Amino acid sequence: MEFTSQEFMVGKCEGEKLVHGETMPLVLLPREASKNGFESLVEGLKKNKEWFEQLIIKNSAVLLRGFDVKNAEEFNEVVELFGWEDMRYVGPAPRTHVYKRIWTANEGPLSEFIYYHHEMVLIKESPSKVILFCETPPPEGGQTPFVPSFRVTERMLEEFPEMVEEIEKKGLKYTFTALSKNDTSSMRGRGWEDAFGTSDRAEAEKRTKLLGMDVEWLPNGGVKTLLGPRPLTRVFEGRKERRMWFNTMVGMYGKEHSSAMMADGTEIPENVVKRCEEIIEEESIQFKWEKGDILFLDNMATLHGRRPSLSPRRVLVTICK
Ligand SMILES: [Fe+2]
Repeated sequence: MEFTSQEFMVGKCEGEKLVHGETMPLVLLPREASKNGFESLVEGLKKNKEWFEQLIIKNSAVLLRGFDVKNAEEFNEVVELFGWEDMRYVGPAPRTHVYKRIWTANEGPLSEFIYYHHEMVLIKESPSKVILFCETPPPEGGQTPFVPSFRVTERMLEEFPEMVEEIEKKGLKYTFTALSKNDTSSMRGRGWEDAFGTSDRAEAEKRTKLLGMDVEWLPNGGVKTLLGPRPLTRVFEGRKERRMWFNTMVGMYGKEHSSAMMADGTEIPENVVKRCEEIIEEESIQFKWEKGDILFLDNMATLHGRRPSLSPRRVLVTICK
């Protein structure tokens, strides 16, 4: 695709990588120094909507920088101008509503690493885009690293071709336990009442069925959620036939609150999971947040996480269909 915008020019950021010919993230800056305000950004994006959306698919990650976006209201305006449909978050992260489509990214402790994931990978319908806005950059740490998902599949196929195909054929099965109420002392502390939007068990069961999950109630009022079979990799339209590592095997395998195995009950060898974890880390890309940055991630093509951070850090998020 030719770079044709009058409003934006390509910049650079520390940590960017060239992955099979594409720069990730693609950094876009104001082309004219005088047009570096929020109004210019909105105007520029309105003129270049389709072009911009294509860039997100092509580069998997686009970082808008230098437009002085100040708060959730302005971030929301940027997101809304594209006309992408809003989506309700379902998952373990405790989040707080901020403004219209905008939420805090995770209320869990900043000291914890939030492991790499495709947003809502276990739900039937995952968002196509995850958009993050940096209101307060952290003094240290707190990056939002992301990983080109197809690279994980490529490298796992190089090292464990038979195992990958076996898991693919059988599918994955996961379990996840949650308490009833939110616990913000944990980054996975979202209670089921909040997650399912009800405190009524029958209603919760109905809703989880629609999401393709089964539930078991626990004596402490919590719930064990069972999911499966789920795929190991997926190929999405318009993404160069790339096989995305669209699963959460490493994140859920052998944990206190979760597990991952093959759908027929076969255990996945620990060394395979360990090696996969290393590959994901090696393939990760990270940049340093600057105030006012907006990062657009193609959620079909990238995993993302959060490094431990010093306080204060405020990164807001929205997801689109
Ligand atoms: Fe996330």
